[in-house]
Amino acid sequence: MDRYPLNREGLSLMDVITAMLTRRSEHHLVDPAPSDEEFAYLLKVAATAPDHGLLRPWRWVLIRGDDRSELGACFAEEAPAERRSQAAAKVQRAPLLASLVFTPAQGHKVPEWEQLAATSAMTNSLMLLLHTRGFGSIWRTGAAVRSAHVRQLLGLKGEENLLGWLYIGTPRANPARRRRSLCDVSSRLSQLSLHR
Ligand SMILES: Cc1cc2nc3c(=O)[nH]c(=O)nc-3n(C[C@H](O)[C@H](O)[C@H](O)COP(=O)(O)O)c2cc1C
Repeated sequence: MDRYPLNREGLSLMDVITAMLTRRSEHHLVDPAPSDEEFAYLLKVAATAPDHGLLRPWRWVLIRGDDRSELGACFAEEAPAERRSQAAAKVQRAPLLASLVFTPAQGHKVPEWEQLAATSAMTNSLMLLLHTRGFGSIWRTGAAVRSAHVRQLLGLKGEENLLGWLYIGTPRANPARRRRSLCDVSSRLSQLSLHR
């Protein structure tokens, strides 16, 4: 996908509804990925997502290039013997793997589930922002999020938890890529009508 046009301030001209309707999880991602600077900029914007207490209970660890193979080795450890090389190769599916670390404030009046909700809101915003810049992403999890070696590699502390990786890059051109069809929300939407 071409970079979406930016205005003079460098802001994307894609409107929010278009961004939401056209973002899809992208399985095949190639160079370029956003630079460290662009990622940091988009993250600052994504960090404006709703966040009770403004705790920002998360951090990101970016993995690029040959460093991905260290993570791939950890993936292989988690896989059955016959699928190890396949598992190791999974890190090559995108040029940038952004590891999402949940860092909840302990014993805070904002319960942990709210902190997790704020982290998800930020991540969804980030995926939409990447999309408006012409980058694709997919959030991937798997057994490796609980791997001791992965925790060590990424420097996770005791109370921190890995929520997976955003695989990020440029989607391979796919003109057949459709807008998503809107789901039927009628069974998920009701009105309280005590006074009508
Ligand atoms: C918390 C979370 C974890 C996910 N983990 C995986 C995963 O491990 N593998 C995968 O292929 N997709 C994963 N996904 C992506 C979903 O499969 C994807 O969003 C869903 O199929 C809808 O597709 P769409 O994003 O194109 O609308 C994950 C999404 C979320 C929110």
